Amino acid sequence: MFNIAVAQSGGPTCAINASLVGVYREALKESSIDAVFGSVNGIEGIIQNHMINLKSMILSNDDMELLRQTPSTVLGSCRYKLPDWEEDEEVYKKIRDTLVQRNIGAFFYIGGNDSMDTVNKLSEYFKTINLDIKVIGIPKTIDNDLCITDHTPGFGSAAKYVATTMKEITRDSIVYSIPSVTIVEIMGRHAGWLTASSAVLHALGETAPHLVYVPEVKFSIEGFVRDVRQELSKHKAVIVAVSEGIEVPEGVQSGEVDNFGHKYLSGIGKYLEETVRKEIGCKVRSIELNVMQRCSSHLGSATDIAEAEMIGAEGVKCALAGVSGKVMVFKRISDMPYTVAVETADASKIANQEKFLPKKYINSAGNNIEAKALDYFLPLIQGELNLVMEHGVPKHFAIHESVLK
Ligand code: F6P
Repeated sequence: MFNIAVAQSGGPTCAINASLVGVYREALKESSIDAVFGSVNGIEGIIQNHMINLKSMILSNDDMELLRQTPSTVLGSCRYKLPDWEEDEEVYKKIRDTLVQRNIGAFFYIGGNDSMDTVNKLSEYFKTINLDIKVIGIPKTIDNDLCITDHTPGFGSAAKYVATTMKEITRDSIVYSIPSVTIVEIMGRHAGWLTASSAVLHALGETAPHLVYVPEVKFSIEGFVRDVRQELSKHKAVIVAVSEGIEVPEGVQSGEVDNFGHKYLSGIGKYLEETVRKEIGCKVRSIELNVMQRCSSHLGSATDIAEAEMIGAEGVKCALAGVSGKVMVFKRISDMPYTVAVETADASKIANQEKFLPKKYINSAGNNIEAKALDYFLPLIQGELNLVMEHGVPKHFAIHESVLK
């Protein structure tokens, strides 16, 4: 018998805890697995030997169900970049010591493209030192920018939130007789998937969003002002979806970067709001969806949460079959009826790479989304969670802060 370790890393989503539950539930079924240790704050917890036996945290089936529908990362997260082991082996030795001391036979890392860099590096290192610990990546990110996989857990719920919020913003913005522009800034880094998903409203007969700007298309302020003027000639209230990652003039963003060198992207909506005020002069407002789009489990997609749990469980099965250095991925079999299969891909092919919105999903003017993209998005946002509520708001699984210290 051996133990396994699981950790969560990168930006929060609605589905990361569901993948943790997937790993845990599957492990409970396997007679060769004894304890499941959760690492606090991603790989940092393994480096510091700060881990929790999940049995002491998840006390019942009800706990497991609640955790499955609780957004964010119950074990905390990190944005920690491992050095190359040839350059600095110290940190790898600490990881090895923790895992060996705890008799870990497999390690599951739930994260995005940066976290798959950790999966790749650790699995290579263990191979080099002949240590039999399997390392498996479980994907997640609202950005949906992981290569090879059809989509990532967490994206469907974020897309459902974006589309629903966009619909509500549309209802709100059309009440007055005066012309107006509402600009909605959406996350997703340098990929336009999440922003483009707002176009699912077109499938519901909405004309909004009237303009959609994604980082895959070169952005120009002159083109934007021209587009807005044109839409104002057709619609009283113009709704614009804009990716946080479109190219903006120097100074609009803070310029701060994280450990992976990624810029903190925020502020394009406000900048465009000021541009419309100055250049067009009509009523204008910008809304930054910001972190709300990552943890809105009240609008979670049941499809997304079920898939997140399933891909976590599949990861455990793969590790037990002897697989290492791989990331679990979805392969779409068909849009309608929606069917996916789970496969594996080399972590080296996913680590630090980005998958962009295909050109065929963007209109020729570069300012909206083609109807054919909706067949891709719509299945991912289907189904609602049967949420446990408390005093009228969703109940969340929580562990006491002292447990995480
Ligand atoms: O990668 C997921 C993501 O939510 C991006 O969309 C966003 O740009 C980034 O994380 C924000 O990072 P942080 O949580 O570190 O501020």
